[in-house]
Amino acid sequence: MATQTPASPPYDIIIFGASGFTGKFVIKEALKFLNTPSSPLKSLALAGRNQSKLTQALSWAAHPNPPPSIPILTADTTDPSSLDRIAAQTKLVLNCVGPFRLYGEPVVAACVGNGADYLDICGEPDFMERMEANYYDQAVKNGSLVVSACGFDSVPAELGLMFNSRQWVLPAVPNRVEAYVSLESDKRVVGNFATYESAILGIANAAKLQELRRSRPRRARPTIPGFAPPKGSTIEHQKDIGLWAVKLPSADATVVRRTLTTLTENPHGLQGANESAEQAEKREKFWSTIKPAHFGVKLGSKSFLGVLRFIGVGVMMGLLGSFAFGRSLLLKFPSFFSLGWFRKNGPTEEEVAAASFKMWFVGQGFSDSSLASGKTKPDMQIITRLTGPEIGYLTTPIILIQCALVLLKQRDDLPKGGVFPPGIVFGPTELQERLQENGISFDVVSKSSLTS
Ligand SMILES: NC(=O)c1ccc[n+]([C@@H]2O[C@H](COP(=O)([O-])OP(=O)(O)OC[C@H]3O[C@@H](n4cnc5c(N)ncnc54)[C@H](OP(=O)(O)O)[C@@H]3O)[C@@H](O)[C@H]2O)c1
Repeated sequence: MATQTPASPPYDIIIFGASGFTGKFVIKEALKFLNTPSSPLKSLALAGRNQSKLTQALSWAAHPNPPPSIPILTADTTDPSSLDRIAAQTKLVLNCVGPFRLYGEPVVAACVGNGADYLDICGEPDFMERMEANYYDQAVKNGSLVVSACGFDSVPAELGLMFNSRQWVLPAVPNRVEAYVSLESDKRVVGNFATYESAILGIANAAKLQELRRSRPRRARPTIPGFAPPKGSTIEHQKDIGLWAVKLPSADATVVRRTLTTLTENPHGLQGANESAEQAEKREKFWSTIKPAHFGVKLGSKSFLGVLRFIGVGVMMGLLGSFAFGRSLLLKFPSFFSLGWFRKNGPTEEEVAAASFKMWFVGQGFSDSSLASGKTKPDMQIITRLTGPEIGYLTTPIILIQCALVLLKQRDDLPKGGVFPPGIVFGPTELQERLQENGISFDVVSKSSLTS
């Protein structure tokens, strides 16, 4: 008797939360690849809780063309059966409903339960680590691939670190890579309220994240040549790239750390669900070029005053975010407390179009790994850089859609299931090339010796 192969779900992708500020830019980016020659995206649907907002978002995203005929499905995170319905109808859900700490878990549960793949644009470490703790085993069993942080948080950090790492040719090895994010515009750089709210909820729940980490089994740590870099001063003047900088408490460093941990446990990377011998060789070769390093991220400004403003906002959010009344003030007056960086109704289209980012990766290490013993300081520096358009609503949709296209096209080369950070899944794929083709560039800036 012939065995029946299960029918493929009707949609390649469902964008959930497509009516949101970011969601509508994600639709716009997806439409560029819908049914175009050689694109793996043949069928798309939108989902959310409000049909008319979704219809409007589609019209906005298709403009100046008429909106294409794309199914609009209703689903609400408070109604698990509605989430099951969408997860059962698609290969992949792109989740744009945040803050993820508030709304994300039922969506992950539905995807994992139905064996659908799941990508999101979350930048909240507590959510990502909780999903890994709660859904990893079931995701492996059901063949559901769950990857958070497929936006500006944290793909540039992940791929940027790997790009820097690949410039170190043995016997040279990196010891530390510090990334410096610089946001540029001749207008204001503005983010939408949900990102600000996500950050405030992260501050409020910092203790819970520590508790979760303490409750998890200890995992392998990468072996990094040389000693860990000293903490350094709060404000750094990075003369080589002309920026003043301060630590950025984004999700990036924690996401990168999870990728490096997974790599330490799987030195050849993660085996594809159904990969060819040739692909397995390619994957192993890729990971053999990646050398782990201590990693941190800083927010940079060309002026000292700019950095003082970052610190002012950070201190205010840190202080007020730690108690309920303070949080209600922060949430009520986002523009005031963030000095205009976040607004209830987000940036204007002109502000989005005018903005861009540079992310510098300053890698320091040893010209020969044999020098890395004892207290020897790094003697070599390699600076690389990623550049691209506005981070939240242009770069993030570009990254999310390119991750989705890689997943659709190369599904057999990716792990069958599990909950992972993006770097370990997409590192050895064509993601970097695809991002380069879509406006995000990767450059080697300089290689030099360091004199102590
Ligand atoms: N990784 C990155 O770099 C990056 C960049 C941008 C954004 N983000 C994150 O993306 C998330 C969304 O940001 P945003 O600015 O787009 O927020 P937003 O404009 O508030 O959009 C939120 C979306 O979620 C939907 N939604 C809310 N509650 C829902 C529920 N119970 N059931 C179903 N849908 C629901 C909203 O639907 P309605 O339209 O019906 O209200 C809307 O479509 C935030 O967590 C933000 O931090 C991350």
